[in-house]
Amino acid sequence: MRVLIRYGVVVLAIAIGATMLIWPVATGFVEDWARRDVEMRSRLVYSAARDPIETLREAGDEAGLTRLMERIGQDDGVVAVALCENGVVRAGSPAMPAEFRCSHTPANGSSLSIVTFEDARLLVSAYSLGEGSDQVTLVVMHDDQEIEARLSRARLFIILAAIGIAFGGAALASLFAYLVMRRWTISVRQAIEDARAGRPEESGGASTMIGEEIRKTLAELDFVRHSIDAAHTEWSPETLRLALANELPGSEVIVVSNREPYIHNRLEDGTIQLQRPASGLVSALEPVTRACGGVWIAHGSGTADRDTVDSDDRVMVPPSNPSYALRRLWLTEEEQEGYYYGFANEGLWPLCHIAFVRPVFRESDWRMYREVNRRFAEAVAAEARRPDPIVLIQDYHLALAPRMIRERLPEATIVTFWHIPWPNSETFGICPYKEDIIDGLLGSSILGFHTQFHCNNFIETVDRFVESRIDREEASITLRGHETFVRPYPISIEWPPAAMANQKPVEEARVAVRERLGLPEDVRLGVGIERFDYTKGILDRMRAVDALLTTHPEWRERFCFLQAAAPTRSKLSNYRTLQEEAEALAQDINARHGGPFPVIQLVARHHDPEEVFELFRAGDLCIVSSLHDGMNLVAKEFVAARDDERGVLILSAFAGASRELNEALIVNPYDAYAMGEAIARALEMDEAEQRERMHTMRQQVQSRNVYRWAGQMLLDAAHLRKKQRIMRLMDKAGQA
Ligand code: F6P
Repeated sequence: MRVLIRYGVVVLAIAIGATMLIWPVATGFVEDWARRDVEMRSRLVYSAARDPIETLREAGDEAGLTRLMERIGQDDGVVAVALCENGVVRAGSPAMPAEFRCSHTPANGSSLSIVTFEDARLLVSAYSLGEGSDQVTLVVMHDDQEIEARLSRARLFIILAAIGIAFGGAALASLFAYLVMRRWTISVRQAIEDARAGRPEESGGASTMIGEEIRKTLAELDFVRHSIDAAHTEWSPETLRLALANELPGSEVIVVSNREPYIHNRLEDGTIQLQRPASGLVSALEPVTRACGGVWIAHGSGTADRDTVDSDDRVMVPPSNPSYALRRLWLTEEEQEGYYYGFANEGLWPLCHIAFVRPVFRESDWRMYREVNRRFAEAVAAEARRPDPIVLIQDYHLALAPRMIRERLPEATIVTFWHIPWPNSETFGICPYKEDIIDGLLGSSILGFHTQFHCNNFIETVDRFVESRIDREEASITLRGHETFVRPYPISIEWPPAAMANQKPVEEARVAVRERLGLPEDVRLGVGIERFDYTKGILDRMRAVDALLTTHPEWRERFCFLQAAAPTRSKLSNYRTLQEEAEALAQDINARHGGPFPVIQLVARHHDPEEVFELFRAGDLCIVSSLHDGMNLVAKEFVAARDDERGVLILSAFAGASRELNEALIVNPYDAYAMGEAIARALEMDEAEQRERMHTMRQQVQSRNVYRWAGQMLLDAAHLRKKQRIMRLMDKAGQA
């Protein structure tokens, strides 16, 4: 449109310029033509009057001459006529000016001369009559206003014609430009199609340099995904670094999450202890950030966090081999209450997980949530060294941050990953702030979920509550002109896991753990390891152990279940109650199925990754019985820990991981009896079957590791950036 207007304006300017140029020529021409016309009419008067004048003169009929003059004087355009004879007026029409003298007469037949009388300016022409000794002249006088009137009419005509030509020309030029642009756009589309289909350029295609550049960029675009995905089936920190260097050269990566990857705590003896939090988010993202470098902004929650940062609130991590900066953000008690415990964990967490815990929404929590999201957005803007960083926003704590960051850094590529499930639109509809949350998330360039199912739920939710344009084929949502792509990225773990580096052989781990738990060597061990969260189905798996021992008493005194659970969000009553219930249930089961050792051993404390992996290696089976889970990385860690290809995974159908780890024994955690039967089946499974299942799952986790997860998001970000570059090029071409 802008181009068309521009064409129109140019043509208009040309028309105005041309009019100004032809103006003097045209008006001169009209004046000349008007004069000639007057002359011609004077000559006609003379031709018509010559003979009657001769006759009347010869007859000496003075009255006749006067009447003749009077009649001629009434001719159209004639003001007056006079008959001069030997320099004296012999007869004249009534309108002849009193001051007229025959001396005013121009030479015979000459062109007009202008004579100014008291009342008027007249155009005077004279014609000689007779060939005798007398000098007789007919003088014809026309009004010079007549020429002026003609000139005015001519000027008006020229102006109208110029306007008409200008507008007509502008319209034609715009139409022409539109047709050319349309053809160009079709050509560019064709170029895009050709490039996508790998067809060579046909003559007559988008042959402009811009078209060429677009083709090249598109070729690069498709190469990105194909080459990286095909060439590097094994994603590693190296391939991730390579992908970043090749596809996003010079880019700045900023990770943002609530939970920090390294927590510094001060112990009672005054020393500082470094803790790696029990967080799926951290275990996935930490190795990725190590590979990519950059800055990770997170809440500094440790008691010694302030003592370990520099003046910019930064500390380089990992401490053993620093590769990225951890920028800590300080939150007051009040902020943590409202934003983290309140809105995030009493509102959004139960809202998004189907665990039948009622979400709580408080206006004061919501205000704090908004405020803390704003603080995170400001920290991102302050950390950014370029106007277009790649910002990787993590999880439900920061739903409003994408929009807030977009407002501060409009050119940023914002990739948001939602680590928990997204419920159906009906469930999400109970959230009083649903529109704001959706609006916040749609500030992202790309919004990721673990599964296609959660992507679909999100799109349906947007469709139901927000006025936007949804492209289901592209899986994108456009809100107020900004497009967000919604994509599934199944999260995973690093391969090989760092915690595997110093593990002792499986046999040694079995012996060591059994010793610690006071178990005879031949006792079979089941393990469950996670945060003490009501979504994890910890009570349900205890009930399954109960069901197993009830239905299969032969396993009494031959089976023990170790539940390692890290206390989490303990300020919230739901979490405290869960821990109390779990302890009571364990006691009850142990009492009923008691023997030389407790059947259920509950260890409620934080375990470092190395300890977790040792437990995985010592177990005969692992139970992951989430009532609802985005992915669940414990399941993948168990598989990664078993390089002996032994052990059985019992996995909830309601964890995202069950979509990938099909060789696990898939269970419904709400069905204690069936889960008990699954435990029995696992305990009875022969080595060959265990090996076969574990081998396939290990291949799956190895190839679809966390570097692939991050790599796909970053490649999509690169893809998007290139697409935006094309749009800018097309825009430029449109303006050219
Ligand atoms: O599963 C959602 C999640 O944020 C994970 O990403 C993380 O593992 C866990 O919750 C940690 O919770 P918190 O940070 O509250 O301890």
